[in-house]
Amino acid sequence: MAELEIRNLHVKVEDKEILKGLDLDVDKGKIHALMGPNGSGKSTLANTIMGHPALEVTEGTITFKGEDITEADPDERSRMGLFMAFQYPVAIPGVTVAKYLRMIVNAHREAAGEDQISLKDFRKETEAAMEMCDIPKEFSSRYLNDGFSGGEKKRMEVLQLAMLKPSLSVLDETDSGLDIDALKVVADGVNRYAGPGMGVLIITHYQRILHMVEPDTVYVMYDGRIVKQGGPELVGELEERGYGWITEEIEAAK
Ligand SMILES: Nc1ncnc2c1ncn2[C@@H]1O[C@H](COP(=O)(O)OP(=O)(O)OP(=O)(O)O)[C@@H](O)[C@H]1O
Ligand SMILES: [Mg+2]
Repeated sequence: MAELEIRNLHVKVEDKEILKGLDLDVDKGKIHALMGPNGSGKSTLANTIMGHPALEVTEGTITFKGEDITEADPDERSRMGLFMAFQYPVAIPGVTVAKYLRMIVNAHREAAGEDQISLKDFRKETEAAMEMCDIPKEFSSRYLNDGFSGGEKKRMEVLQLAMLKPSLSVLDETDSGLDIDALKVVADGVNRYAGPGMGVLIITHYQRILHMVEPDTVYVMYDGRIVKQGGPELVGELEERGYGWITEEIEAAK
């Protein structure tokens, strides 16, 4: 059984059906890429996996670690080891980066029945993770994502991943808007934690991150469903040919 199994998922937003019977597996320790045209439902899928309250699952199931989480609260999913890096990370004025990180780390430890992290360990872990994510120390005392540049916000998402060490991460366009150095930071971060410990679903429009984080499986989404699945070679093919040939195949089969 895959770490995350999605079966026949139908999702509505404000009475409009966006996901229309989607099946998808994310395996432990493997990297999966999810591609597809704008508006095909990729972010909606990511938000549904995390349990966004505005999305209504009308049919189908999401199973994580063998447990049905279709109706679980977002924080319960997070405590079980699911993590998502958002396409548009939100700012939290009034809450510093250090405070936020400590809050989320402690919430996870509490859920695992562990004591709160000591200040000394927290400092040590944060410093190491910030260095890896190329985030200057002074960011600890800034308010989370408040006034951060697009690239800084994306690196902040990877910093959270590094601190939480989830067992499954969904990265929604974490590569968009990054310069070459920041892209490398993000790719290195993913590569460091992927592998035996973490499965990854990486949503992207671009080949360049998939050269640095090579996917085992590539899924293509179109109109609320997964319509194609292949190996890494599919990435180059999509980059070269676009999505037209896939949509033609589907329309022809109708
Ligand atoms: N709150 C909402 N109200 C109405 N429609 C919505 C809402 N959220 C999403 N949608 C619609 O659902 C469809 C899928 O959107 P989604 O953001 O999942 O696409 P996407 O594949 O992530 O696109 P992109 O590549 O541009 O990020 C779009 O047509 C969008 O307008
Ligand atoms: Mg999106």
